Amino acid sequence: MFIIKILIFILFLSSFDSFIMIKAQRNPTISFISKDKVVNIGDNLELKCQAQDAESYPVAWTKLSPSADQEQVFISKGQSIIIPSNRHQILYDDRDSTYTLIIEKIQEIDVGIYRCEITTAVNTKIWADVPVIVRIPPVIADNSTRSVITAVGERVTLKCYASGYPTPMISWRREKNRLLPNQMAFYKGNNLTIEHVTKDDRGTYYCVADNGVGQGARRNIGVEVEFPPFVRAGRSLVKQALQYDADLHCHIEAFPSPSIQWYKDGQIINDNQHYQINTFVRTDEFIDTTLRVRRIEKRQFGIYICQANNKLGTNQTMIELSESVNIVCPPACDVGFYLSDATATNDYYHYRFLSIFIIMAIMVSR
Ligand SMILES: *[C@@H]1O[C@H](CO)[C@@H](O)[C@H](O)[C@H]1NC(C)=O
Ligand SMILES: *[C@@H]1O[C@H](CO)[C@@H](O)[C@H](O)[C@H]1NC(C)=O
Ligand SMILES: *[C@@H]1O[C@H](CO)[C@@H](O)[C@H](O)[C@H]1NC(C)=O
Repeated sequence: MFIIKILIFILFLSSFDSFIMIKAQRNPTISFISKDKVVNIGDNLELKCQAQDAESYPVAWTKLSPSADQEQVFISKGQSIIIPSNRHQILYDDRDSTYTLIIEKIQEIDVGIYRCEITTAVNTKIWADVPVIVRIPPVIADNSTRSVITAVGERVTLKCYASGYPTPMISWRREKNRLLPNQMAFYKGNNLTIEHVTKDDRGTYYCVADNGVGQGARRNIGVEVEFPPFVRAGRSLVKQALQYDADLHCHIEAFPSPSIQWYKDGQIINDNQHYQINTFVRTDEFIDTTLRVRRIEKRQFGIYICQANNKLGTNQTMIELSESVNIVCPPACDVGFYLSDATATNDYYHYRFLSIFIIMAIMVSR
């Protein structure tokens, strides 16, 4: 009987022993962690960490910053949030021992690796990680080209960079779908190089950054090309009868804006009662200038020169004004032509009237 009692006692002890051993062998484990997350700004995010046999251990959510030093910040410990934030919450479900970290209204700063961590002994931890990536619409970086002024024959590179996640694709276009240096309407890459700039390369270029998040971003880059003037006559031979007006037209292309002169017989022509110069800027690079020769006198027939110059050069063209027996319209006789220039019309009749008056006065005085 006594032996039996002892046996039972030993059995009891051993079973108790093994119970303690089993209990001690059950180290905490992380049995579930959320998958990698890719989220949009403003979203709410839930990260789950299921900790088995961890009732008596501290379970923490921490965050490793994406910077090189990977600084670790503790967000929660057990069932409390330990950072000053009203966007973070921790929920604990004791049925499946899951710690759910909730982050509301995701911001760019929430990017990083979230780590669920259980400290099992003074120097021992177990953990599991969830990377969180935030989608960020593209923003064109400040170091991108804003505008350039270049000159014919030079080499120029337009640069465009953009931040955002995923990494934005950078592409180029031109206004009115003009061709890019690759002879296409579209070019992909950060750097757009024009090897030998020509006049035709001037205009607006678009750098477009797109990563599928939001609308994408665009920057308009102005390319101005400096080039020497090119001067062309409207007609290189203009005919008119004595005493009538004639218009000499000259078209100029230049950038920067040129200074313009009309010459006859080596003399600069100024606005006066014999000549009227009208200059009309059509665009930055195109200028029209018209010389009106008023009530032509014999000495006003001959060769006129229209000349333009800017810092890159000078160009000129010749226009001959020669006498005709017929009156050439316009600008003579066609009143409609004068409608746009009323003062000229008035002057014209004014001078006619004045000359008749003078002739009469001379006759009377004799
Ligand atoms: C321009 O800035 C972007 C982002 O700010 C950077 O990634 C890129 O390397 C810079 N490029 C140059 C040429 O400085
Ligand atoms: C663009 O130019 C920058 C500096 O000028 C250079 O570092 C970079 O490698 C170029 N990028 C490409 C794609 O050629
Ligand atoms: C004006 O420019 C054109 C085109 O560049 C050139 O062919 C012509 O020789 C120039 N004329 C003068 C007088 O410089």
